[in-house]
Amino acid sequence: MRTKITIVGAGNVGGTTAQRLAEKEVGDIVLVDVAEGMPQGKSLDVLEAGPIYGYDGDLTGTNSYDETGGSAICVITAGRARKPGMARSDLLENNAKVIKSVVKDLVERSPDTILLVVSNPLDAMVYTAYKTCGFPKERVIGMAGVLDTARFATFVARELKVSVENVQATLIGGHSSPLPLARYTTVAGVPITELLPKDTIDALTKRTIGGGAEIVNLLKTGSAYVAPSAAITEMVVAILRDKKKILPSTVLCQGEYGLNDIFIGVPAKLGSKGVEGIIELHLTDEENKALQNSAEGVRAECAEVNGIIK
Ligand code: 2OP
Repeated sequence: MRTKITIVGAGNVGGTTAQRLAEKEVGDIVLVDVAEGMPQGKSLDVLEAGPIYGYDGDLTGTNSYDETGGSAICVITAGRARKPGMARSDLLENNAKVIKSVVKDLVERSPDTILLVVSNPLDAMVYTAYKTCGFPKERVIGMAGVLDTARFATFVARELKVSVENVQATLIGGHSSPLPLARYTTVAGVPITELLPKDTIDALTKRTIGGGAEIVNLLKTGSAYVAPSAAITEMVVAILRDKKKILPSTVLCQGEYGLNDIFIGVPAKLGSKGVEGIIELHLTDEENKALQNSAEGVRAECAEVNGIIK
């Protein structure tokens, strides 16, 4: 039997993720959504590109969770996305209820799965999933840092007019207040603090923090999905291929970075067991203060979640 990957939510993020994962041939894909016809149509469309792109594998579009049983990994993109003028936190009440219900349906059928949460507000939705599923912390992960880091790397590469492949960016913190770490961001091995003036780095940092909103405001009808689906794919491939790849991931910190019982973005080693380690970077007082501030915002959202899903 081939590895089964479930994607919940057949919107732009879920549909594009199905396409990217099919192209990677990492397993058979089940795409679930409440909208009748949507997951079926998107799955068929991806299947029909197989002969041209040269990939095999099964894709099932469904409105039921029955086909998801035995999934190795479940990617949760369900819930509303932002429209212009909305903060990610405006989605909290609706999406917390959606995540709770989705997670119950998934874990009943796939008790050994790994949950990869993508819905917003991200950190609070990963917490919602964790509170609902009863899984060990290693099997509950959120996608935000890979996306935010890619945004920072894009801006750095364009500023310096170098290939994005030369940029190794580092970023920690919650998805609503990510913290790019310039000292740990390098271009061909050289820290960008040696290549760019502080005000330029500050401007790139600010643009990264508002990176999701920048796209929402341009698209006007929804949020980003091309870069988010690429980020999800990198994480899923790292886990399914047991790559032990260190990627910025939203994971449960229990003492790391002086943070306790909070899901927040930190560098984590991803492999077949899910989160196989957290890498602790040495932070300056200023960086640490920014991380603790980011964590305060996440804690406030999680307190709201507690009232909604109890
Ligand atoms: C973003 O940052 C949708 O939260 C996602 O684009």
